Amino acid sequence: PKSSEEATKKLAKLLIENPKSKVIFMVGAGISTSCGIPDFRSPNTGLYHNLSKLNLPYAEAVFDIDFFKETPKPFYMLASELYPGKFKPSKFHLLMKLFQDKNRLHRIYSQNIDTLERESGICPEYVIEAHGSFAENICIECNRLYKRDVFKNKLKEYEKNPKDENLARCEECDGLVKPNIVFFGEDLPRRFFENWDSDLEEMEEEGSKEQLIVVVAGTSLTVYPFASLPIEVPKTHHRSLINREIVGDFLQEPRKSDIIIKSHSDEAAQIIAEELGWTTELDTLMEE
Ligand code: OAD
Repeated sequence: PKSSEEATKKLAKLLIENPKSKVIFMVGAGISTSCGIPDFRSPNTGLYHNLSKLNLPYAEAVFDIDFFKETPKPFYMLASELYPGKFKPSKFHLLMKLFQDKNRLHRIYSQNIDTLERESGICPEYVIEAHGSFAENICIECNRLYKRDVFKNKLKEYEKNPKDENLARCEECDGLVKPNIVFFGEDLPRRFFENWDSDLEEMEEEGSKEQLIVVVAGTSLTVYPFASLPIEVPKTHHRSLINREIVGDFLQEPRKSDIIIKSHSDEAAQIIAEELGWTTELDTLMEE
């Protein structure tokens, strides 16, 4: 619709008028749906809807650490659908990569475990994987770390024979080994809090007002503490939401300076690239 196009142009204008400004992205599953990865909470297509066939007490149990201890299999089923490597970054991911290349990227806080930020070629130092990733594994009893393959190999066995009870286990304590993804009931990585504290400090510095712009995209903002990031953004700073629906603090405590772009994240990415004169580069990245 026209209004979302206008709002996208407004965000682009802000970026153009402040050529030294940098963006702090806060993203979720919605930026990866066009890659073929379902999000969690969309009606009908979301993972939680489709998990109903697993007879879980409630859908989010699949990511609950206490539930996993007793009933690990549903997580294997989910991991099999989500396992990275099968998917290519979206236009929105590649736009974030362009922000990096143009020296306009400050940070990406991502709730996604699909590692598509890394796949896009964005330097790990910019990316905060707030909910962890499949890149390494951990024993849930003794916290011993294991390489990626330990879980990956068991997952392959599971895919061949879902009835197989031979799950990934710790060599030392026989505890269950799982990808180092943050489950409900577990803490987020220290890096998440440390970087956010430092970003907040930077936003509170004089002169930072137009220089750091927050762009939230593809998230329902339902899971805390991630959902509190946009709430904590100082009122001096611009926040923008690129999402199919208006969510979280943008709905509960809207600010006059918020830029709401109710659209598909890739469509917004296309318009932003056009306005900034980056389409050729974006097309090249899309073809790679
Ligand atoms: P959700 O599934 O809760 O929300 C995805 C949001 O993106 C919804 O508001 C959709 O309307 C929107 N959306 C979907 N496709 C879109 C598109 N192409 N363009 C724009 N918007 C789109 O996913 P998250 O908010 O990321 O935890 O979920 C947060 C956490 O809950 C996840 O990190 C996960 C889950 O439990 C773990 O993996 C540990």
